[in-house]
Amino acid sequence: MDTSTIEINIAGENEEVPYALLLLSDDTKEAIDHNLAKGELYLGRQNGQIIASFILKCIDIGTIEIKNIAVLESLQGKGVGTILIDFIKENATLRGFHQLLVGTCDQCHKEIEFYKKSGFKLFDVRKNFFLENYYKPIYENGKQIIDMVLLKIDLLATTNPGDGEWLA
Ligand SMILES: CC(C)(COP(=O)(O)OP(=O)(O)OC[C@H]1O[C@@H](n2cnc3c(N)ncnc32)[C@H](O)[C@@H]1OP(=O)(O)O)[C@@H](O)C(=O)NCCC(=O)NCCS
Repeated sequence: MDTSTIEINIAGENEEVPYALLLLSDDTKEAIDHNLAKGELYLGRQNGQIIASFILKCIDIGTIEIKNIAVLESLQGKGVGTILIDFIKENATLRGFHQLLVGTCDQCHKEIEFYKKSGFKLFDVRKNFFLENYYKPIYENGKQIIDMVLLKIDLLATTNPGDGEWLA
């Protein structure tokens, strides 16, 4: 797949939310709406078709978190997710954030591998997150998920010498 033709942009105010796509990354529309209320929705398009999406949520002055990152099922495993993460890292660095977070479930071993391959390191655990934030138990790989595993990238540490002008 030619990933060079993927365009990633923040969604316009009147743009339809691609719930079916975002629901690949979450269990409920309510959880997505909660993230949308405090976050920015981004859309990845190829040839005019939405193929990927994610939400960026500012946590504090230096920290931004990825929520609900998802690639169209038929296009997963072809490098699109990596393109999204590269875009997010650049976007966050340009905006002066120094820390990029992402959370996933304690049983989401494949997703954790994906994030590690993209440069994230295990950082923290939000204990009981999936018990306290969802009405029904959620299962992944046959096991109930309980905690959110947080991973992070220190953006300043990954900024190359000479890139300082980005932050000016
Ligand atoms: C997770 C997701 C965004 C990754 O995007 P993607 O386009 O499939 O990922 P890429 O093709 O860029 O993969 C990058 C690397 O991670 C690995 N990887 C990606 N998804 C993986 C998975 N599910 N299992 C194991 N490895 C995976 C790939 O093998 C690849 O490694 P390689 O470069 O050595 O080949 C995508 O699979 C997806 O939308 N999944 C469903 C929604 C979801 O679970 N979102 C995350 C919520 S925490």
